[in-house]
Amino acid sequence: MVDIRLHPSVLSADFVNMEAELHRIASADAVHVDVMDNHFVEALTFGPQMVKRIVEVSPVPLDVHLMIENPDYFAPRYGELGAQSVTFHVEAASDVAATIKAIQSHGAKAGIAVKPGTPLEPYLDNFHEADLVLIMTVEPGAGGQAFLHDVMPKLQAARNYLEQAGLTPLLEVDGGITVDTLPIAWRHGADTFVAGSSVFGHGQPEDNIEALRNSLTPERNAP
Ligand code: DX5
Ligand code: ZN
Repeated sequence: MVDIRLHPSVLSADFVNMEAELHRIASADAVHVDVMDNHFVEALTFGPQMVKRIVEVSPVPLDVHLMIENPDYFAPRYGELGAQSVTFHVEAASDVAATIKAIQSHGAKAGIAVKPGTPLEPYLDNFHEADLVLIMTVEPGAGGQAFLHDVMPKLQAARNYLEQAGLTPLLEVDGGITVDTLPIAWRHGADTFVAGSSVFGHGQPEDNIEALRNSLTPERNAP
């Protein structure tokens, strides 16, 4: 089996039964936790208290995705809650490099996220410091949207840059990941896959995680 990382998003889980929902994805590599602030995106999810509690009860490490304004100020505060990684949007940050460093100094790995329409070029220097690069494959703000195939050249460009620079951050995609689109993103260089509705939206999350992992069979990916 090809070695990939699967990060189910609890945005599509039942918030009122969060602890039980987390135990349904114990076979995942991490849980993706979407923090939305009603400003950077329209939706509102939860803040640091909830993230801290998820850290305490989750069987797998946390991959926190901040869709918030002013990450320069807030992201480091998430870095000290025990999450494995904290990722913020470059579009919202004033000083991307300083925010990466601040998250890391609080004990978490630091990720940078780009929206579908955001070019990579201004941020390539930051690829040298980040532990994770998140290429959004939908507009941030909601689960259940369709995968944006137009983002694939940018994903491939990110992979190419990392390879030629000898860098090894995780290269994550988020949005519209299914058994059909995961192999497409993988072929364009992604190694870490967020999936919300395709894990929690039907059937059993553990089965859906297995199906997503199995979507990368050699037959499916033959030229
Ligand atoms: C969207 C969030 C995603 C969301 C993905 O803004 O960042 O993590 O949960 O949901 P699906 O997998 O349903 O597209
Ligand atoms: Zn997300």
